[in-house]
Amino acid sequence: MTAETTTTSRSTLPITAPTLVTGGTGKTGRRVAAGLAARGLPVRIGSRSAEVPFDWDDPTTWRAALRGTRAAYLAFVPDLAVEGSTDAIRALSAIAFEEGVQRLVLLSGRGEPAAQRSEEVVLGSGIPATVVRASWFAQNFSEGYLLDGVLSGVVALPADAVREPFVDVDDLAELAVAALTEDGHAGRVYEATGPELLTFADAVAEIAAATGREIAYQPLPMSVWTAEMARHGVPDDVLDLLRFLFTEVLDGRNESTADGVAQGLGRPARPFRWFARRAAAAGAWSAS
Ligand SMILES: NC(=O)c1ccc[n+]([C@@H]2O[C@H](COP(=O)([O-])OP(=O)(O)OC[C@H]3O[C@@H](n4cnc5c(N)ncnc54)[C@H](OP(=O)(O)O)[C@@H]3O)[C@@H](O)[C@H]2O)c1
Repeated sequence: MTAETTTTSRSTLPITAPTLVTGGTGKTGRRVAAGLAARGLPVRIGSRSAEVPFDWDDPTTWRAALRGTRAAYLAFVPDLAVEGSTDAIRALSAIAFEEGVQRLVLLSGRGEPAAQRSEEVVLGSGIPATVVRASWFAQNFSEGYLLDGVLSGVVALPADAVREPFVDVDDLAELAVAALTEDGHAGRVYEATGPELLTFADAVAEIAAATGREIAYQPLPMSVWTAEMARHGVPDDVLDLLRFLFTEVLDGRNESTADGVAQGLGRPARPFRWFARRAAAAGAWSAS
């Protein structure tokens, strides 16, 4: 793919206009922002603490964040599976269209009906758009809600034999950067997974091997796990989301790999072992 040198007929904003990267300090957004910066492209971080504040819960912040941007990376927080997400994506896409944004990339989740509705909204927005439809992130173990379990030496989850093709967030970010900056990605849905199916126990064993530490995996009944989460103060809405993810999304519907990374980047997705070794070497699970 070649770097974009022309603009669409709808707008004249040059590629040197900034790209809004929502969640720009989070797991994927931070990497997307870095990838754009590495190409010498300006970035506007979209988050509540950004210079131009952007809050998914406050639509009055959206227009100012989008104004003057050439493209936008949309990582809806907390998850496209929650109620109201599609309405938010629809309203934001409409503002983006009015503001002359020329490219949208939506980070989506695999096997989530509400996420698939948001994909349709973005693809039908009138703006050239790409969907990166991701499986579970490998980085949930190093930067997300599974980190504490890894550090404590016991990862306990309501998942047993189900296998998931954990995807490396670096692959997702590279896909997003390509779609934001190169021709040939508009209208595409990249179903992006890792190259192999692993149980959560398999994944934890890979991390244990990479770190040289003993880390156990303990499958729990959903009721026991949610009671434990509630005891630790996890709010009800977050519990509802986690319950949905661990029952519906992990019901076996996603027990297959997909080649979105190869389709978009022309190379295979990185294996979980690669992630585990790199994260261990970077100190993600160091005792401090
Ligand atoms: N985790 C997975 O396995 C997985 C799999 C597939 C798809 N996904 C999708 O990934 C998306 C999340 O992406 P991510 O993991 O890269 O993000 P993340 O790391 O969870 O998000 C953190 C970022 O979002 C910002 N943020 C938090 N609340 C916000 C709000 N109300 N409004 C605006 N910004 C807010 C934070 O900055 P501030 O605190 O400064 O606002 C920070 O920049 C979700 O849509 C989810 O469906 C996740």
